[in-house]
Amino acid sequence: LLRPPVPRPLAGKRVLITAGPTHEPIDPVRYIANRSSGKQGFAIAAAAQAAGAEVILVSGPVELSDPQGVTVKHVESARQMLEQVQASLPADIAIFAAAVADWRVANEGEQKLKKTSAGMPPLQLVENPDILATISKLTDQRPPLVIGFAAETEHLIDNAKSKLARKGCDWIVANDVSPATGVMGGDRNTVHLISRKDSEIAVDSWPVMTKEQVAIELVAHVAKSVTDKSV
Ligand code: CTP
Ligand code: CA
Repeated sequence: LLRPPVPRPLAGKRVLITAGPTHEPIDPVRYIANRSSGKQGFAIAAAAQAAGAEVILVSGPVELSDPQGVTVKHVESARQMLEQVQASLPADIAIFAAAVADWRVANEGEQKLKKTSAGMPPLQLVENPDILATISKLTDQRPPLVIGFAAETEHLIDNAKSKLARKGCDWIVANDVSPATGVMGGDRNTVHLISRKDSEIAVDSWPVMTKEQVAIELVAHVAKSVTDKSV
């Protein structure tokens, strides 16, 4: 049987993706989490794999099965996620879709916290490392294309633009998670692709799409940018 050749615009490219929430332990039986399902990051991994890329997916705890043909590294906490991301470099393209917990518990209990007459245990929080900013600011092993996500409930474009500048990445996928639109964990996303080329910033607004469609569209943009650069 003769089949037309499948286009593989990302053949030979190594794509590193983060996905899902992180879990930050409070004690051996409890943790702080968020509502991320991991669906968007997993869909991007599948789309990049289908486009011919070698894909490494670093995922927090999710209820999804590993996409076929993708190397998946499962982690729990933000610090473990950073470690696995660093261990997966170099990469040609890095896409940070994970909803990394901003804080972890500083005084993590070695034993299960117990109710005592002294009242409720105080939870002290410390900031987690910013994986996207850390990788964007690398001098040696910075991937040539670094893409972040910004989930916002208000001032979407403005917040995303300042995130792009602050983190030092090349593109931001700004994701409207206000209750009226794309609520976290749902199947659809309302996104705007904000890109920076030198000092010029472009905003490309997409119609409401499923997470699979967003993934395919994003991978198509990545493929176009990679092809444009190599000619
Ligand atoms: N991110 C990350 N590591 C963190 C926090 C965020 O890699 N510790 C990444 C996310 O994966 C996403 C981007 O940074 O690609 C933006 O995440 P977001 O939570 O929107 O930004 P923050 O800088 O944490 O700001 P805030 O939550 O206050 O809006
Ligand atoms: Ca955050």
